[in-house]
Amino acid sequence: MTASVFDTLDTPVPDAILGLAAQFRADTRPGRIDLGVGVFRDEAGRTPVMRAVKAAEARLLEQQDSKSYLGLEGDMGFVERMAPIVFGTAHGLGDRLQGLQTAGGTGALRAALDLVARANPKARVWVGLPTWANHRPLILSAGLEVAPMPFFDQASQTVDVGAMLEALSAARPGDAVILQGCCHNPTGAVLEPADWDALATIVADRGLLPIMDLAYQGLGDGLEADAASTRLMAARVPALLIAYSCDKNFGVYRDRVGALWVIGTNAAEAARARAHALAAVRTMWSMPPDHGAAAIRLILEDAALTADWRAELDSMRSRIVEVRRALAAAHPLLAPLGRQTGMFSLLPVDAPVVERLKTAHAIYAVPPGRINVAGLRVDQVETFAQALARAI
Ligand code: LMR
Repeated sequence: MTASVFDTLDTPVPDAILGLAAQFRADTRPGRIDLGVGVFRDEAGRTPVMRAVKAAEARLLEQQDSKSYLGLEGDMGFVERMAPIVFGTAHGLGDRLQGLQTAGGTGALRAALDLVARANPKARVWVGLPTWANHRPLILSAGLEVAPMPFFDQASQTVDVGAMLEALSAARPGDAVILQGCCHNPTGAVLEPADWDALATIVADRGLLPIMDLAYQGLGDGLEADAASTRLMAARVPALLIAYSCDKNFGVYRDRVGALWVIGTNAAEAARARAHALAAVRTMWSMPPDHGAAAIRLILEDAALTADWRAELDSMRSRIVEVRRALAAAHPLLAPLGRQTGMFSLLPVDAPVVERLKTAHAIYAVPPGRINVAGLRVDQVETFAQALARAI
């Protein structure tokens, strides 16, 4: 047998989140609990199709008369109707704001990073640690350098904004910085308005390009509150990229619905940047998948469906808040989780505890300790807290 060209691919490519999902599927122990991959689950442990999405999909089936290509930018009706939800109804950005549909939030991030690489191939991309496991590979895939900065201390559950600002004071003009707008993945940590203010100031002063990663709008403090940091940034900096995911707040995970918005100093600059983002998209997915974005457009074109989507999203958010409250009350170590927001928290424990939770208690958290709060039913919180107490 001659050597295969693939023989050189001898390094394993572990994916902490997806690897854990496979292990969970293979586990047959009764009462096992999956706190791994970030999908919302209701009190019955299901990830339902949202009511408004179901209704819109039925309409789509009825009305859609072609599946011909829409173009690189996807469904612009979807993009235009999402903009006021993200930026506010009176954002005043005019043609400085230009968007395109992407294949999920990951696609939006990758297109954003490719755009950064086209604008400034030497850019470093600053990212607070810990962060979503896919950020670093995405930065590297775009051929850019990762510039880590301290963000959150797992043991003490505290955010270190001073350390972030100090790190960014060494950034070069033209560097980019990824900032998660709300519901931080994996920590749930909250930045205060004064922190965002300080970040906007340093970004503007040093000529940095922020990339706001907004994947959970509506699942933290509500649709408006969760967009506040993005809106503040949009009002304060000359140029901004917003990588947005609808996968969680519309529950359309596998349909891959996202958007990328570019804000430039003027309309012509924004249009140029958008054209380069579209050129980058052409080499990745060419044209985005349509179904989920078309369904969301139909929801947002209809006042009753929009109201129902907002109501269901708010009940999802309330459930997450309720589980967080129960966790915070169940064990002193978990008290900080009550102040955090969104689907994720990073347990203040070390790696062997996370391993024991899995091996001894069939509770799956992503190393080094991320849990999907929405993976717990309220009536499982006590079991979880007792298992944690035994594992530490
Ligand atoms: C997660 O962090 O679990 C989700 O964003 C799913 C993913 O793609 O990693």
